[in-house]
Amino acid sequence: MAPRRPIIGGNWKMNLTRAEGLALAAAVGDVASAYPRVEVAVFPPFPYLDAVRAETTPAVAVGAQDCSAEAKGAFTGQVSVGMLVDIGVTSVLIGHSERRHGLGETDAILCRKLARAVDGGVLPVLCVGETLAERDAGRAHEVIATQLRGALDGHSEASMSQLVIAYEPVWAIGTGRTATPADAAEAHRTVRRTLQDLYSARFAEKARVMYGGSVNARNAAELFAQEDIDGGLVGGASLIASDFAAIIAAAAGR
Ligand code: PGA
Repeated sequence: MAPRRPIIGGNWKMNLTRAEGLALAAAVGDVASAYPRVEVAVFPPFPYLDAVRAETTPAVAVGAQDCSAEAKGAFTGQVSVGMLVDIGVTSVLIGHSERRHGLGETDAILCRKLARAVDGGVLPVLCVGETLAERDAGRAHEVIATQLRGALDGHSEASMSQLVIAYEPVWAIGTGRTATPADAAEAHRTVRRTLQDLYSARFAEKARVMYGGSVNARNAAELFAQEDIDGGLVGGASLIASDFAAIIAAAAGR
């Protein structure tokens, strides 16, 4: 089977002004063009998506941080996949922990969002990960498997062929506390084992699984050296062009 193409995503969250975002997007475009082996994506806030897409090169995929589970209609404040596609967005984060835990998004809602993304032809990045309490209780692997099963419920193997998973332990996000490469690798094996149970060994082997949670320019290479870690979903360090460039370079050397 062909090796999995490394993937690096910059999740800007609710940060940056428009001007800062455009400058960052231009810088990321230069770096991405220099490392064609790595798939590079940025996930700006909704109001900047269109401008960022226009500013950056085709070497950078522009993704949204969320999408609606609905197609259209009376859903104040929500953004549909159709609207994202209309402005050239090609990827979407689904189930980031700040939406699961901050906004109460359930596996059932994420399952429907996944359907919308796939129907719209947008690359879905499904985020999973345990809280510190769940890890301390020895439940990390059960939680990861349950989140995957919940979001993928009813989705066929063929429909999920482009699915990317981001394993992001909640306790590592924005805390500066990164999972050890060994712990992250073990969690990634749980992701693959669950995908194998749900679909097939081939699917599990092909699917790309990113690690997220305090990835930075110093720890990226060691994380990406793990066989089952195909790249990173990066928050804080993705806002600093030079740090994000170093992380992309680390993925290229994988
Ligand atoms: P962080 O965020 O790199 O700032 O920990 C990662 C994420 O939430 O995707």
